[in-house]
Amino acid sequence: MGKYLIRGGKPLTGEVRISGAKNAALPVLAAAVATKGENIIEACPEISDVDNMISILEALGCRIARYGTSIMINASELTECRIPDELMKEMRSSVFLAGSLLARCGEAVISSPGGCNIGKRPIDIHIKGLKSLGAEIEYSGDKIYIKSGNMKGAYIRLDYPSVGATENLMLAATAAEGTTVIDNSASEPEINALQDYINMCGGRVSGAGTGRITICGRRKLTGCEYRMIPDRIEAGTFLLMCAGTEGDVCLKGVVADHIRPLIEIVRAGGSRISTWDDNLRICSTAAGRVKCSVDTAPYPGFPTDLQSQLTAFLTVKGEDCIVRENIFENRFRYAKQLIKMGADIEISQKEVIIKGNNILYGCDVEAEDLRGGAALVIAGLMAEGDTVLNNTKYIKRGYSRFREKIQKLGGEIREDGQ
Ligand code: UD1
Repeated sequence: MGKYLIRGGKPLTGEVRISGAKNAALPVLAAAVATKGENIIEACPEISDVDNMISILEALGCRIARYGTSIMINASELTECRIPDELMKEMRSSVFLAGSLLARCGEAVISSPGGCNIGKRPIDIHIKGLKSLGAEIEYSGDKIYIKSGNMKGAYIRLDYPSVGATENLMLAATAAEGTTVIDNSASEPEINALQDYINMCGGRVSGAGTGRITICGRRKLTGCEYRMIPDRIEAGTFLLMCAGTEGDVCLKGVVADHIRPLIEIVRAGGSRISTWDDNLRICSTAAGRVKCSVDTAPYPGFPTDLQSQLTAFLTVKGEDCIVRENIFENRFRYAKQLIKMGADIEISQKEVIIKGNNILYGCDVEAEDLRGGAALVIAGLMAEGDTVLNNTKYIKRGYSRFREKIQKLGGEIREDGQ
């Protein structure tokens, strides 16, 4: 299953380029199914979630070619509207294909989505929204059969600003007759990315980032050339890794505004952070300590996808901190592994209390989900001695060339048993 062998204690130095955003790449690749013509999607991250999405697109009949981090997709001759079960279960993001398949073929057959084991992850908000557009939905076993019927634009108010439901409905609404308004929509930068992509293909979507998105339906979607936005979660992970190892690093290809709450927290602990163009430089010393109470929240709040990495950082660099998880109910599994490494933390259902000022000691730990795995890499790099991190497959789902990038910054990390 792959292991990282990490030797802690070395400050990271140098510069590294952040890859394209996983959470923008997946919906944009799914959206390509709704287009007729050639798409070139540039700066795609080299991760297994993207590989899985490509396998699904190929199974649907898309023509695909990859040139480094660019992916050519031509969905002009789609042959299938059923996502094969084994591929659907590989990752939750395949649920977006419901929206784009409806837009393109008028029907979609999906099964219960898979994904990281971080919570229940229902899709009721997606289904309710699709029904508001007039889609007909039938359940049979673990399959969901969706037909577009005569989908008409509608006013949809989401019960919660779900990122995936917003994206799915944006895609489905491109095929509905008339105008759709999605209220209480998610405002994450990845929603803007999807809006930009659809518009570059000839669609008409506005309002991304405002909490209310308007989609004019039934416009012909052709392919386009689109460049992926940078991955804010990867940028945040490297920021914490550098601050945790008391390093001096320049991150290139960063939109600093996308990680503003994290920058404020790390700065408050004494790290010097400067930003210019798409660069972010962080310079940290041994002296500073962070005191904070953090709540995960939808954008622009503190992202749930950085909660684990922040907690790992705070075990050493924090002082009396609380981190509350408000989005997913099972996102503290990694924290038990931090305790194994010597962290003085208390875990309850929704929060972790971190005394901080700890020394972590390297030992054998298990990654159990993507971001929790990244948190344990940060912990290993801060720890005294050697850490063996098992199950690197989770990390490879969402971090592009993670080990290589850490090595480039001088971090001691090797890989075993791939
Ligand atoms: C996306 C991201 C994920 C991130 C999450 C929150 C991708 C590929 N993944 O996941 O990395 O952690 O946003 O920022 O972009 N919910 C329901 N019913 C639904 C849909 C969601 O109850 O139909 C709940 C979820 O269980 C969760 C919350 O809403 O508690 C947020 O989920 P959502 O925003 O949909 O996350 P994802 O799109 O799955």
